Formats: sequence, structure tokens, C-alpha cells
Amino acid sequence: MEECNIVIKVCMGTGGIAAGGTGVVSAFREEIQAVGVNASVERNCSVHNVGCRGFCARDVLVDVIIDGEKTTYEYIKSDMVPRIVQEHILQGQAIGDWEVKEDYHTFHEKQVKVVLSDCGEVDPEDIESYVERDGYKALKKVLATMTPEETIDLIKASGLRGRGGAGFPAGLKWEFARKAPGEPKYLICNADEGDPGAFMDRSVIEGNPHSVIEGMIIGAYAIGALKGYVYIRAEYPLAVERLKIALDQARQRGLLGNRILEKDFDFDIKIKLGAGAFVCGEETALIASIEGNRGMPKAKPPFPAQKGLWGKPTVINNVETLANIAYIIRNGADWFAQFGTEKSKGTKVFALTGKVKNSGLIEVPLGISLREIVYDIGGGIEGDRKLKAVQTGGPSGGCITAGMIDIAVDYESLAKAGSIVGSGGMVVMDETDCMVNIAKYFLEFTQAESCGKCVPCRIGTKRLLEILERITEGRGRPGDMDLLEKLSNDVKSASLCGLGQTAPNPVLSTLRYFRDEYEAHIHEKRCPAGVCKNLLTYSILEEFCKGCTMCARVCPAGAIVGEKKKPHKIIQEICVKCGACFETCKFKAIKKG
Ligand SMILES: Cc1cc2nc3c(=O)[nH]c(=O)nc-3n(C[C@H](O)[C@H](O)[C@H](O)COP(=O)(O)O)c2cc1C
Ligand code: SF4
Ligand code: SF4
Ligand code: FES
Repeated sequence: MEECNIVIKVCMGTGGIAAGGTGVVSAFREEIQAVGVNASVERNCSVHNVGCRGFCARDVLVDVIIDGEKTTYEYIKSDMVPRIVQEHILQGQAIGDWEVKEDYHTFHEKQVKVVLSDCGEVDPEDIESYVERDGYKALKKVLATMTPEETIDLIKASGLRGRGGAGFPAGLKWEFARKAPGEPKYLICNADEGDPGAFMDRSVIEGNPHSVIEGMIIGAYAIGALKGYVYIRAEYPLAVERLKIALDQARQRGLLGNRILEKDFDFDIKIKLGAGAFVCGEETALIASIEGNRGMPKAKPPFPAQKGLWGKPTVINNVETLANIAYIIRNGADWFAQFGTEKSKGTKVFALTGKVKNSGLIEVPLGISLREIVYDIGGGIEGDRKLKAVQTGGPSGGCITAGMIDIAVDYESLAKAGSIVGSGGMVVMDETDCMVNIAKYFLEFTQAESCGKCVPCRIGTKRLLEILERITEGRGRPGDMDLLEKLSNDVKSASLCGLGQTAPNPVLSTLRYFRDEYEAHIHEKRCPAGVCKNLLTYSILEEFCKGCTMCARVCPAGAIVGEKKKPHKIIQEICVKCGACFETCKFKAIKKG
């Protein structure tokens, strides 16, 4: 970014674009040209696209920075731009009503940003803006002053663990690959990110692709790789586009290709598009997919670090793992290790979603309490309802109950509670969520995504799902909970890859903490949260019914009878439980239960 007194940064992450960011950028460019800011005020003004800064619910977010003083606006539409230019840029009067409110600041207050520190600041399509913020300094330092072994030692000393799910020490994985016999070696960035509700890796690539590329080049130097791949799903078009631009810019600057930065080191990166199969995120399936075969897992060992792509030593690292590398090299291992806990160092990006007021992308030091995440950063539960549980780790994870809200969010503590950090999905649930239904939801996902190679996963997840469907439809049988438990343990222990080995986790953790909900479904044919349709009855409370006939008019089944101005009645045999009457009645006269 050129030197300017006035800088405007418009969020052009996926959320920003969806909210109209492209129009806002054009409006700023046109308006600034029209009023001739450069000439009349003798000040330079530049408009930049930036990536996601986490609080996408407030998009389009716009920063107006005048002589270093930043004002952030929220919910900006293109027709609001002329007023910002007139009043703020020309007359120096910020528009208070449009500025972000207190919750925007509290959302960011407890976060510690390493991986996301430049997201929302740098222009992802302009290498210069990353370089201005010390981008590629770590690479220069490594190539000029460190041996590959020293680089590995530094990453080991930082305590960085893989952010893709398993939490394996990153430096150790690099060391295995470096020491493994076989040439050439490969480095793969895993950007498959298939967990439902997860958008961490996509946002990092969209917001700051060069941080991932810099991490890959350093990783390649450390392990001795000549070639790298980014395996990214085709459903992430913006991320793919920005990655392509960033790779071209890096090549033009001599940061990729032959004799990188004039050193005796060659490395280049190819993009491999995935077709959107969850199992292709599993490392052996991912390798099979790059090799042009069907993406199916293989038994381990051998691990990819010993025998990976084309049978050669290969490091597969997650996007977030790689995006940490440059910051660690630049600031030192001790700096990174100051964040987090004894065994879980650093920060972790989470996708905070569900029934929380401030949902979005957050980065927090590991070890922070779940309470701080849900209440301080998330702003508490929507509608001030009661927290019921937080599901962490996506389909491979489990549930933490409201009673365990003070748990530390780190690898060890979550595992002890029967869940995992995983790749970083975090779904907050309240009393209107049914935990049996949640387990069913995740099983539907894993069952559909099972590659079918091994019987325990292919058939086992299907049977688990069938039992859960039965229970939620009111056809649960007395022995179902034991059956679910036994089958879950069998699928876990007998499946070939991580998908089958973890698929039953949501079932086991909900069985463990929400047994009473399973019991109510099975024995009382009742869904306490009022979610499972077949277990609901709608009835009319005569004392509240005014006979306004609204319910009868919206009922698609003609199940509501009664005269005008007299209490109505629902004929249960005809009711299809659509809930339209419940939503429509102004007098709260329809009971759902
Ligand atoms: C079914 C399945 C899906 C996975 N999907 C991803 C993914 O989308 N992204 C990812 O980085 N790791 C994913 N993993 C974990 C990877 O196999 C691997 O452990 C990870 O990429 C290693 O990188 P890290 O050490 O930097 O975490 C998945 C694992 C399984 C079993
Ligand atoms: S566990 Fe499931 S996904 Fe993994 S290899 Fe077996 S069938 Fe395929
Ligand atoms: S739930 Fe639907 S079908 Fe049943 S009475 Fe109400 S509107 Fe009619
Ligand atoms: S995309 Fe704009 S803040 Fe996330």
C-alpha cells in the first residue's frame, strides 16, 4: 500500500462480499475521484480490499484511517458512502451512528491474534501490503541465517501442534520427514476443510494467503522439499482465486521457483482442487487424490512423513499450522510459547457459531475458558436463553455441558471431557436444541461421507443413524441406548481411518451427558426441547384462545376447527405437526409439547 494520509479498508471476505462489499469499494473509488480528494485537500487517499476480521455479522465493515486515526463503520451499504466521504473524509467529522458499537470491541478484546493478526489489515491480492507488515521477513531470516535443522528446532521449541485436528507436534513431523530416506520430498498444505460449520482455513487463505505460502516455503526448506501442493476444495472459489494471485506474485518476486532469494534452494507450489469429499482431508486419502486415484484412506503406518506422495517422504500440514510459522520465526519460540498452556502452546482459531449472540471467527490463546469464549467474546446466548451445551471438534468431536463451562479450552482438557479441539468448530446450543437430534445431524454427515472402504464404518454408521432416526421419530426401543453404545465402540475400534474412528463421538458424548433426553425420547415418546417433529403435539389452550381463526386459516391440513370468537380445537389425527399455528397465534394460545 502506498504512503497515504487517508486509507480506507473495506472488508472483502466472503461475508463482506455477500453483504455488498464490491459495491462499497466501487462507491468509495468513484466518490473520491468525483470530489477530487487528491487535488483539493492535497491528501492521498487509497481504497483497499481486506479479508475477514471475524465479526462477519456486522459486514460490510469499513475502516477509515486518517493520519493514523482509525474509525470503523459497520453495516455499510454503497449508498452510505457519499456521506462518509463528505462528512468524514472532507470535513473530518466521523458519523457516530454508523460506527461499530461496544459489542464489536468486546468481541475482539479477549482475543489474541497471531494467525489472524494481518487478516482484515492486509490486501490479500497485493503482496506489497503483506511485505509492508513484515511479510516474508521470516523467510529471508531463515534462508540467510538458519540451517534446516535450526529451523526445525525453533518450531519444536515453540511447541506448535498441528491445527488440523490431531494436534501432532509440527516440528517433530518436519524432523521425521527431513530424516526419512527418499527423494524428492513433498510438502502439502491441507486446505480441504470439510467439517460442517468450519470456515477457519478458508478465511485465513482469503484474508492473508501469503502467510500460508511463506509457511510452506519455510517448511519446504526445513524438510528439503522441492515441490509443494495446496489441496483445496473447489467450493472455495474466492480462496482459490486469491491463492493463485498470491502464488503468481510470489513467483514474480523470486520467492518461489529456482534459486529462491538467490540461495541454493528451489521450491514451487501447485494448487490441487478437491471435489468436496470430507474423507479427502484424511492425509492418506488426500495423497491418493493428488496421485489421481479415488480418495480413499490407507492403513498407517507407514506414515506420510516416511512414505507419502508417490511413495516419497511427505509432510501434510493444516493451513493454520502453516500460517503460524512466519510469526513464530519472526518473534521467536518463546514469544509463541508464552500463549497457551504447558502442553497446548499458542493460539487457536475457532468458528464460533450456533445460539451465541456474536458468532464469527475468533482466535484465542489455548487454555482460555469456555465461559470467556461464550460470554465475553460471544456475548452470551441469543435471546438470553439458557446455555445447554457447546459442541466442539465438529463431526469428530463431542459436547461440553453448561455445567462444565469453566473448562479450559486446550487439547488435554477437552479430551478429558470426552470432546476434542479438532479443527476448531464450536457450536453453541441452548434449551431449544435437542441433543439426540444433534447426534443424528452429525451422524447423517459422517454416514454420507464414509468412503465405504471398510465395513465397520460403512455399515456401522448407517446402523447408528437408523437407530437415532428411530428414536427421534418416536420408535425408540428399550435397549437402544446400550445398542448405540456398543455399536459406537465397535465402529471406533474397528474402522480403518479417522473418519470411522471418530464418527461415533457425538453419539457417545450426548449419551454420556444427556442420557435423560434419550430416555425421554425412548420411554416417554417426548422430545424435551420440542424439536423432534413426530414427538410433538400441538393443542389449543382454551383459556387464551380468542377464536380469531388465524390458526385455522394457516393450517395446511385443515386440522383446526371452531367457530369465530369461540375457542378452537386441533384434531390430532389430521395435524401434520408443521407448527404454522404455533408461529401464527398472537395470543400464545397454541401449546407445543
Ligand atoms: C476424515 C478426516 C478429515 C480431515 N479433514 C482435514 C481437513 O479438512 N484439514 C486438515 O488440515 N486436516 C484434516 N484432517 C486431518 C489430516 O488428516 C491431518 O492430520 C492434518 O492435515 C495434519 O496437519 P497438522 O499436523 O498441521 O494438523 C482430517 C482427518 C480425517 C480423519
Ligand atoms: S473408516 Fe470409513 S471413511 Fe475411513 S476408510 Fe473406512 S469406510 Fe472409509
Ligand atoms: S401444527 Fe400445522 S397441521 Fe397441526 S394444527 Fe397447527 S397448523 Fe395445523
Ligand atoms: S467477511 Fe467481513 S468480517 Fe468476516
